Amino acid sequence: MSLRNSRNKIAATAFAALVLGLGPALAGPADDTLVVNEDVTIVTRAPAAAHLDGHLKEVYSGWLFREDETRKMQKDDFDNPNFVFLEQGLDAWSAVDGSEGKSCANCHEDIADSMAGVRATMPKVNAKGDLWSMEDYINDCRTNRMGAEAWKWNSADMKNMTLAISLQSRGMPVNVAIDGPAQAFWEKGKEMYYTRFGQLEMSCANCHEDNFGNYIRADHLSQGQVNGFPVYRLKDSGVVSIHQRFVGCVRDTRAETFAAGSQEFRELELYVASRGMGLEIEGAGVRP
Ligand code: HEC
Ligand code: HEC
Repeated sequence: MSLRNSRNKIAATAFAALVLGLGPALAGPADDTLVVNEDVTIVTRAPAAAHLDGHLKEVYSGWLFREDETRKMQKDDFDNPNFVFLEQGLDAWSAVDGSEGKSCANCHEDIADSMAGVRATMPKVNAKGDLWSMEDYINDCRTNRMGAEAWKWNSADMKNMTLAISLQSRGMPVNVAIDGPAQAFWEKGKEMYYTRFGQLEMSCANCHEDNFGNYIRADHLSQGQVNGFPVYRLKDSGVVSIHQRFVGCVRDTRAETFAAGSQEFRELELYVASRGMGLEIEGAGVRP
């Protein structure tokens, strides 16, 4: 047996052991509807976009794969642990910072008006032709317009702000552009999604396309959608950004991972976001 074959065999065995681990062998998405504050109904399952032909028939929010109690926390903002942090983001929105003596609100005024729908379009190509995530836009305003320091990608300040901005798109459909200037980035993100990484030689698709609904160890695998992000993770007692989640998943394949904020992860974010077309932005998801 060649080295290559034996490695594949190890990978296949490791994968089977993971997937057939604890928990019921098969369990689909929950039969539940996300209505927040008994008011806003959010679409958490939808027919897959045309570009997913042959890959997925229906798309599901990660919310549908969580336990009853976790799902419930997202149904009422008073029970949703994100809101403590989100309110800090709202405070930062109107706080003056940097050498220009400006706050976000000085230029963008009411966050509810100026940021409505913004999260649903991210990441997107900016005026210079670069693919930017929301964090890039925020830091561009801070450094070039406010004379303030850039926030680190996964800092509390940044996550509080992306939460506050994302909430303004709650209940709006994912609306990323994947054609025109975005297309080349999207293709690269797609290629990455299907590339096998690490000692386990697993791609994103191996878990989130081929095995959603199955249990991997104790985790109920979802489709790995990002419409619920940023999310509060009960395990970490904190808010997790999209790229932070990607880092965790790549690391689970025992591969060297890309950094949060890297070009690779922006492209991957665009592709993953596009797999959620039809779903709606949750603004502040809660995960185990
Ligand atoms: C001096 C004015 C100014 C300040 C202060 C400012 N911004 Fe901006 N911001 C802009 C302009 C101008 C744009 C670009 C608008 C465009 O090109 O569509 C922008 C774009 C953005 C975008 C992208 C919006 C979109 O629809 O693509 C986000 C997000 C954003 N700003 C967040 C912030 C945050 C958060 C702060 C405070 C930390 C802030 N901005 C401070 C002027 C400002
Ligand atoms: C070995 C299996 C595995 C691989 C490979 C994997 N993930 Fe995950 N991923 C998980 C598990 C387990 C979770 C937590 C449960 C869930 O939501 O599926 C998760 C969660 C996620 C979530 C959070 C979904 C939510 O709604 O909270 C995203 C986004 C995600 N993965 C994206 C990716 C991307 C992108 C890749 C490829 C770089 C990837 N994953 C590779 C196992 C994997």
